[in-house]
Amino acid sequence: MMRDIPFGKPIIEQEEKEAVARVLDGPILTHGPLVKEFEADFATFTGAPYAVAVSSCTAGLHLAYLALGIGVGDEVIVPAQSHVATAHAVELVGATTIFADAEISTGNIDISSLEKLVTAKTKAISIVHYLGMPVNMDEIMSFAKKHDLYVIEDCALAIGTKFKGVHAGLYGDVGCFSFYPVKHITTAEGGMLITKNHAIADAVSKLRAFGIDRNIVSERKIPGMYDVQELGYNYRLNEIGAAMGIEQLKKVSRFLEQRQDNYVAMQTELRNVDNISLFQSSNDNFLSSYYCLSILLDEKLMSQRYQIMDRLKLKGIGSSIYYPKAIPDMTYYRKKYGEKYVICPVAQKISNTSIALPVGPHLTVDDMKYITSSLKTIFKEV
Ligand SMILES: Cc1ncc(COP(=O)(O)O)c(C=O)c1O
Repeated sequence: MMRDIPFGKPIIEQEEKEAVARVLDGPILTHGPLVKEFEADFATFTGAPYAVAVSSCTAGLHLAYLALGIGVGDEVIVPAQSHVATAHAVELVGATTIFADAEISTGNIDISSLEKLVTAKTKAISIVHYLGMPVNMDEIMSFAKKHDLYVIEDCALAIGTKFKGVHAGLYGDVGCFSFYPVKHITTAEGGMLITKNHAIADAVSKLRAFGIDRNIVSERKIPGMYDVQELGYNYRLNEIGAAMGIEQLKKVSRFLEQRQDNYVAMQTELRNVDNISLFQSSNDNFLSSYYCLSILLDEKLMSQRYQIMDRLKLKGIGSSIYYPKAIPDMTYYRKKYGEKYVICPVAQKISNTSIALPVGPHLTVDDMKYITSSLKTIFKEV
């Protein structure tokens, strides 16, 4: 029997629907108490002193650079193997993106390559916990300390990710999460910025709402009265998204457990398959959020990649590529920085040879068996 296995599918249940309906029935669609409640819940879940809800992870990253005062003339080291948003946020403030290659064992930033990228203009390093696997934050923080750099953690795929028991986003100056539909929890569009630093949280809260000195209508002493001391954006999360987020967060442990069970089941089946390799496993010190399981095809199979993905699709199995190109290979970056900046062969190899397979909580361990047995058959056919 063919199955219907999408790569990602949000789990929206009765609780989310009722919570959204309550918002729609009420008087407040934005600027309301649910955003505050969601922020408090997220802070509790991650252990963050401050959490600020925003309209997307990209918005959070953009605001982070603004709040840290990074801009024209500054350089920021960014992983070449990530979503473009990781680099776009640097570009949006007018700073220069300096790409670092990935390590092949995890897909995370190659820490051994960083030293040679530092110049007098380097102000920050951004890392991404690639596919939810934590970066070694001890090494990143000592590198950052040595060169006096800010650290921005792109945690778009890292809800539940922990390095040495501490949640992703809490080692650096800021961590930014995404609630886009295929992520671990969703608010349709949405994001959250966490930080240990009150001044950063305060600056981001103002910048996300035009630079207004009070964020919540009820905090204004005189209705309709506020002041604006700086240039800001409209990057707020609304009450509908917050209502969804509150309910989704209550279920996140269940979602994460299912992801882990699925991942382990798939990994066990694929571990000894010829012509592919897997990224390093998660363990107590490096706890992944199990966003997906990416396989790397060797020389024999890599030219058949799209055929393999097509055949998976014919069997009802969705797959994807994380990420389809190393960021410096995207046209915008190629045009801006030119080929001399493309020094990221490992990131390119991951983009050119990997297939991302689904392990989300919309799927069961039995689905994993179907995916792996289908894959083994396909590998023999191509
Ligand atoms: C690593 C990474 N960073 C940032 C983003 C952007 O997130 P958002 O869509 O919430 O802006 C994504 C989206 O997939 C991502 O994978």
